[in-house]
Amino acid sequence: MKALEVDGVSKDFYVTERFFLGPKKRVLDNISFTVERGQNVAIIGPNGCGKTTLLKTISTIYLPDEGTIRVFGNDIFRHPEQARRAFSFVSPALNFQNKLSLRQTMKFFGRVVGKRPEYIIPFLKRMGILHMMDTRLEGFSEGQKAMVRLAIGFIKDPKILMLDEVVVSLDVERKERIINFILEQDELRDLTILMVDHEPTVVDRLCDKIIILDKGGVLYKIVSVKELLAMVPYRFDINVSLKKDMSDKQLASIGSDFRRYGNKIRYFAHDESEVDEIIKQLLKRSRFVLEFSTSGVSLKDVYFWMMEGKLGKF
Ligand SMILES: Nc1ncnc2c1ncn2[C@@H]1O[C@H](COP(=O)(O)OP(=O)(O)OP(=O)(O)O)[C@@H](O)[C@H]1O
Ligand SMILES: [Mg+2]
Repeated sequence: MKALEVDGVSKDFYVTERFFLGPKKRVLDNISFTVERGQNVAIIGPNGCGKTTLLKTISTIYLPDEGTIRVFGNDIFRHPEQARRAFSFVSPALNFQNKLSLRQTMKFFGRVVGKRPEYIIPFLKRMGILHMMDTRLEGFSEGQKAMVRLAIGFIKDPKILMLDEVVVSLDVERKERIINFILEQDELRDLTILMVDHEPTVVDRLCDKIIILDKGGVLYKIVSVKELLAMVPYRFDINVSLKKDMSDKQLASIGSDFRRYGNKIRYFAHDESEVDEIIKQLLKRSRFVLEFSTSGVSLKDVYFWMMEGKLGKF
């Protein structure tokens, strides 16, 4: 059964010039895809390519200019209530009443969707914020607020969960808890997930399929997660700031794959042993190196490699 059918969806925004409406700008351009029930899909693409707009259009927050969207067979514009009941859209843009406590907030959102707030208690417990029930939300950290937003998404007991970069602001431990919780719920409730996220580790564990959007809101490609991750040429990058310039030859003696952006250098590594080696070499050159940091490669990089033709098969 199809959970979601997006067919020929386009969306325009008017560019505002001073106080007048300027020309139209196409933000989503003839997007079509389907998601089977139980399938988990990630949407990736460069900044501003329309990922959030796509989620908002599916959630009926925006009306598309063209095309149709069906949720479990129901046209969402003809039967918006039915469609809205089926999904939760969790976005970092959701603002709270900061003066309300967590308990009051859960009560409020529970009432909005006709669910008892007790339903969410195990989740709050797992997130380590149950003890904050009577704390006002103004006292929550950004990471804790991210979890409250997710909790609000779950109160509705959705069939389709839409997540817009929900784990980005979280530390590793919380990210892990959230991913595990979503995985568990996914199995328990046969969820269908549509998420915007660029972390290979998150997408790898949660999703089966990736929708790649290109600039201008064009659908570039739909691939399986396995297929795409198998093509990622690097797993880690080491970002270096130089205090003294180095020649390309000197840089190549630290690691063979690098890119230069002014006095910032980015090295790419296939595995942890390569990371260790590059760090060892950097430490030997402390006269040139101001600082460096290591991180996992993001799916945004995959996008750029694709555009540069580095991922030949595409
Ligand atoms: N309400 C709006 N009114 C006018 N233009 C908008 C509106 N919302 C988004 N846009 C524009 O539409 C384009 C797509 O925005 P969107 O937020 O969907 O991108 P995104 O892919 O989610 O980007 P990011 O990776 O930065 O989150 C951008 O050019 C943005 O400026
Ligand atoms: Mg966005």
